[in-house]
Amino acid sequence: MMRLDLDKGLLNSILAVAALVEARDPYTGGHLWRVAQFSRMLGEKAGLSNGEVFQVSLGGYLHDLGKVGVPDEILNKPGRLTAEEYAVIKTHPQVGQRAMAPHPMAPLAMDHILSHHERPDGKGYPHNLEGEQVPYQARIVGIADAFDAMTSTRPYRTGMAIEKALAIIEAGKGTQFDAALADDFLNLGKAGALAHIVGHSSEGMALAECPVCGPILALSPDTQDGDKIYCTSCTGELQVHRNATRFETAPTGQLGDAQAMIPMIETASMREILDAVPGHIHLPDESPYNGVG
Ligand SMILES: [Fe+2]
Repeated sequence: MMRLDLDKGLLNSILAVAALVEARDPYTGGHLWRVAQFSRMLGEKAGLSNGEVFQVSLGGYLHDLGKVGVPDEILNKPGRLTAEEYAVIKTHPQVGQRAMAPHPMAPLAMDHILSHHERPDGKGYPHNLEGEQVPYQARIVGIADAFDAMTSTRPYRTGMAIEKALAIIEAGKGTQFDAALADDFLNLGKAGALAHIVGHSSEGMALAECPVCGPILALSPDTQDGDKIYCTSCTGELQVHRNATRFETAPTGQLGDAQAMIPMIETASMREILDAVPGHIHLPDESPYNGVG
């Protein structure tokens, strides 16, 4: 085992970079926070130690860092991707790996960044790893990421019901998803432990949809009935109506100016992760990234 002393300031700097990447992509409101939460819960369920649970939730938050290297017109394309465009998307784990490699805290999250799209059946990317070759924590983030992608609303596609997404995970046991971890995740679903994360961007932050183009918008906890918010995609001004269970939005016909379009950065998510930082962590010796930086 290799001991890595954790530095809160350095960890904060990576989380800030991840938040910047998320702020750039209007369609993923809260995705990082949710993947971090699902990863943490699945890690706990699978019996990981406290340090490992911290590591997997950090990895969940950082997993898609490499999306920064995917051009906007591909990342935000509403329709089907061409084979060439999909090939560009598939480079994001390696983009993230290269970007992160020089960072002193990189060994913590490298497996998650590089291998969250690998699959037990070898049909994943970027390295077509198989079964046990896929780092364990990357398998956890892979399930968390797929579940969030299925249950999140994207442009022109409403998020799937939790039960349907769980049925797809069940069907992918042993092929797309690690079988034992998939069972653990299904049990979390059956126990009703996932519902309070779906459709949220962080604890207490609800999400609303732009009726014009669909993206999910994070609402600050102090959002009041009647407040105006702005769609980060079409820039349209929306009036918020709060009803018993959720926020509805109605377009006012106005557009937001540059000031109104400043993205919201979710510092609450970062604080949650930083609050759980252990003093040090032990990483397996076989990790190819030990000693990086
Ligand atoms: Fe990804």
